[in-house]
Amino acid sequence: MSTSLIILAAGQGTRMNSDLPKVLHKVAGAPLLVHAMRAGAALEPERTVIVTGHGADAVAKAAMDFDPDAQVVLQDEQLGTGHAVAQAREALADVTGDAIVLYGDTPFIQPETLTAMAAARMYSDVVVLGFDAADPGRYGRLITDGQTLTKIVEFKDATETERAITLCNSGVISADAKVLFDLIDAVGNDNAAGEYYLTDIVEIARSRGLSASVVRCDEAETLGVNTRAQLAQAEAAFQSRARAEALENGVNMTAPETVFFGFDTYLGRDSIIEPNVVFGPDVTVESGVEIRAFSHLEGCHVSRGSVVGPYARLRPGAELAEHVKIGNFVEVKNAQIADGAKVNHLSYVGDASIGKATNVGAGVITCNYDGVFKHRTTIGENVFVGSNTMLVAPVTLGDGSMTASGSVITSDVPAEALAVARARQANKPGLARRMFEKLKNLKAKAEKGA
Ligand code: UD1
Ligand code: MG
Repeated sequence: MSTSLIILAAGQGTRMNSDLPKVLHKVAGAPLLVHAMRAGAALEPERTVIVTGHGADAVAKAAMDFDPDAQVVLQDEQLGTGHAVAQAREALADVTGDAIVLYGDTPFIQPETLTAMAAARMYSDVVVLGFDAADPGRYGRLITDGQTLTKIVEFKDATETERAITLCNSGVISADAKVLFDLIDAVGNDNAAGEYYLTDIVEIARSRGLSASVVRCDEAETLGVNTRAQLAQAEAAFQSRARAEALENGVNMTAPETVFFGFDTYLGRDSIIEPNVVFGPDVTVESGVEIRAFSHLEGCHVSRGSVVGPYARLRPGAELAEHVKIGNFVEVKNAQIADGAKVNHLSYVGDASIGKATNVGAGVITCNYDGVFKHRTTIGENVFVGSNTMLVAPVTLGDGSMTASGSVITSDVPAEALAVARARQANKPGLARRMFEKLKNLKAKAEKGA
């Protein structure tokens, strides 16, 4: 059966104390909203509707960046979760199958949990995701009768006895889409908050002879972000899970607690990650790679057997083939580096390609930007780029060529040629000694005068 997602993301997030809408705050380099969308993607949704309000344009953009097919609807006034869901009605008017409601500020719902909910829909008209809370606080309470769910009571409206219940509402609710909107129609706002509660649909469903049940998940999955402190907690929770998974998958880390992952970092088996390495979004590392201490990687691919760092920076578009060496204080951006090539010390390689087995000496810089345009540097195979060569792009170094160190290369170098582009050295015999004498005399005079 097909499922559509309704993701609620209209809230302001006042307690974040931020100009940025809450759902755009990031965990592991991705907006909270994208985490929710990724979780929902496990259901291969027929349609995804994002309910926006505060910061609607920015939220819409983030949603479309992740899924260009996502539909964005606007909830002008935030009158409650039930009212928010109602905004998705038109966008889902023609779909058949289920709708599942997720929150944009709840990033850790696991795909398996959503699959379990879809399975529970086989025998239940409304399925609610619940969890046993260590501290139930102000969560809505699930009132059950054996296996069935009778109703959800919001904390503000709950009696003392109901408040004592620890089975809480995560907010994730699923039903047939048409049934969901029919139930929402009957929701009023006569309650302590004066809001249209999505949660009221359970009691309404039961009064209509429909069934409702609870699927339980771990409390950690329902962690919602309302404050900066919770955002930091969410990051910590994400990182500790990512580290554990990497170790499980055969990645070697001596100090995993110092390694930070992006939301989609992929590390191959037997890769070695030294301490204090940070992965931004979109990094894939093949097996047997060594990422040495204090390196920063984002938007890059590192192939088998390569060594990166210590203190290296790989920026978006850096593609390292096999057995490449990128050493300390080297920055690589939008550059393809072929098998066995080495850039070992203090270099900037941007908008470039480097051929097989080429050696780039210390301090080499691709001067890729003229202040307006970016230009490419193309370096062939088995090239020796002398230390401190400036490669003023666009420029090409042919296979097997060499540049003399300190050269400023402004025109192409043919294959197997040696390019020298610096002033010739002249030695003046005895001049250093005479200079020293003159300077020392000047100093002595100055000190006497003082
Ligand atoms: C809600 C549930 C509560 C549950 C808790 C779990 C209701 C009535 N209550 O309470 O049972 O235990 O979540 O965290 O559903 N939103 C909109 N538009 C609105 C109102 C909310 O888009 O008009 C969005 C918010 O941005 C947020 C989500 O819906 O992402 C939940 O809203 P929130 O106000 O946090 O609900 P709670 O009071 O926490
Ligand atoms: Mg909340």
